[in-house]
Amino acid sequence: MILAQSVRSLLAGLASTLALGVLAPAAAQETIKVGLLFTYSGPSALAGQINDNVIKMFQQKYGATVGGTKIEFVRRDTTGPNPEVAKRLAQELIVREKVNVIIGPDFTPNVLAVAPLLTEAKIPAIVTGAATSGIIEKSPYLMRTFFSIPQVVRPMAQWAWRDGIRKPFVVVADYGPGHDSEATFTKAFAEAGGSTAGSLRVSLRNPEFSSYMQRIKDAKPDAAFVFMPAGELSVQFLKAYADTGLKGSVKLIATGDLTDEAMIDAAGDAGLGVVTSGIYSPLNDSPMNRQFVADYKAQFNNNPRMNWSSVGVWDAMRMIYDGIAAQKGKLDADKFVAFTRGRNFESPRGMITIDKDSGDIVQSVQIRRVEKRDGGLFNVPFETIKDVSPR
Ligand code: PHB
Repeated sequence: MILAQSVRSLLAGLASTLALGVLAPAAAQETIKVGLLFTYSGPSALAGQINDNVIKMFQQKYGATVGGTKIEFVRRDTTGPNPEVAKRLAQELIVREKVNVIIGPDFTPNVLAVAPLLTEAKIPAIVTGAATSGIIEKSPYLMRTFFSIPQVVRPMAQWAWRDGIRKPFVVVADYGPGHDSEATFTKAFAEAGGSTAGSLRVSLRNPEFSSYMQRIKDAKPDAAFVFMPAGELSVQFLKAYADTGLKGSVKLIATGDLTDEAMIDAAGDAGLGVVTSGIYSPLNDSPMNRQFVADYKAQFNNNPRMNWSSVGVWDAMRMIYDGIAAQKGKLDADKFVAFTRGRNFESPRGMITIDKDSGDIVQSVQIRRVEKRDGGLFNVPFETIKDVSPR
């Protein structure tokens, strides 16, 4: 009796195993792989950590599947602006990992190095951390949820002129977005009616900040306009500006990278009063942003603080989830690009549009001043320019 029962259960087990074996391919959950090309080490390592937090937060809210398809992530560390590394890692993600879509890469030189691979393999990529103008047009598969340099620099130059600044000195990091900032600011300030007091390019490797500060002083400007990529360089710049006494005498204006919320506390009060142009402040007063800020605080206790690339990553996730839902759980690259380009949707920063032709982003730009709120430093917006073109 006992023997007959165990034979019966053995047979039943075998039958269900066989049935599973037959059914397995049809029932197996499909997976879409998202490659992440971010910086997880070196002077900009905080970026990768924040971006990962935002992805966790998005999946907590919207789930880890879309239309029954599991969304899986494969992370790679670009280590900063390193085009050879970025290219090798992108190749690895595309060929070995067979990712369907990429978020990243960050940094302009990395985007330029990866663009041809995206075109060849037909892999869409959404840029959340590189800002030079024109780079998104290097591949029909590139799109951007960050910002472009002219988009934020032009409004800054125009504000400077309206504010009565007449002799600004331009200080930029010596690579793509810095050169773009220098050219855009100089041209826009000239168009407003003025001329700059000169410019200087700061090396990304081992910059000599004390000699740079001396050069700013020697130019006797009434303001310094600065582009530094967010990270340790921006903190070092703010500290040197305060330590050498420039802070009290020469007005400091910049793109929002200099006063990125994730880094600004590291410079102490050196960041207070700096006026910047940017695309996001956690203080933005919309129901969606209030929820975004509250969820991040509840989940990560603001450690590290979120910044403007956080909204870039959040919106990239939105685009990927919506794109997969529209294809009922699939991600065909060309259909995804066609569906996403031209879309207009709400972000924690406000309404944004992915430009149909360029894949770049149209969005509002705010002029902000760094102030102390609740014991921390914040970019407090005081002027908004709507629907600014990325070109
Ligand atoms: C860029 O490399 O384009 C870049 C990186 C960091 C920023 C802004 C631009 O904060």
